[in-house]
Amino acid sequence: MAKVWFIIIIILSASGCYYDSEEYLFPQLDSQCDTTSVTYAVTVQPIMQQYCYRCHNNTNAPSSGANIRLEDYSDVATRAGNGSLYGSIAHQSGFSPMPKGGGQLDNCSLNQIKSWIDSGYPNN
Ligand code: HEC
Repeated sequence: MAKVWFIIIIILSASGCYYDSEEYLFPQLDSQCDTTSVTYAVTVQPIMQQYCYRCHNNTNAPSSGANIRLEDYSDVATRAGNGSLYGSIAHQSGFSPMPKGGGQLDNCSLNQIKSWIDSGYPNN
């Protein structure tokens, strides 16, 4: 962060009439969805926990989740690999739309999960 400020100060002092709108200086403020530093532990697993564990954790899967488990990495990886994880949350035809009985996940979560799957769904 100190580096960023240093650069900003250099730029500001180098140009008197600098257009310093917030969006220009901090473009990420506008689009807060970070799809580049997505990891399983920090991004994907918490989404699963919030929206899917109710039916798909190891305890509830047999009774509520058609025995589909999404608690352990290996189980999530299997679903990521066969296309059903993204197919179901993106409501693609041929898949049962998830989360069942709830609204579709927000676009940011969908894009983050897609990005994780596209990068080979690492256990990171
Ligand atoms: C209220 C319970 C419930 C919740 C919440 C839920 N599911 Fe499901 N899920 C099910 C049931 C039951 C099935 C079996 C198919 C069916 O009945 O639609 C299923 C099926 C699936 C399948 C297989 C779909 C297919 O067509 O092959 C996947 C993948 C899946 N769920 C992922 C998720 C994900 C990811 C979430 C969270 C975003 C989620 N589910 C949330 C109950 C739930």
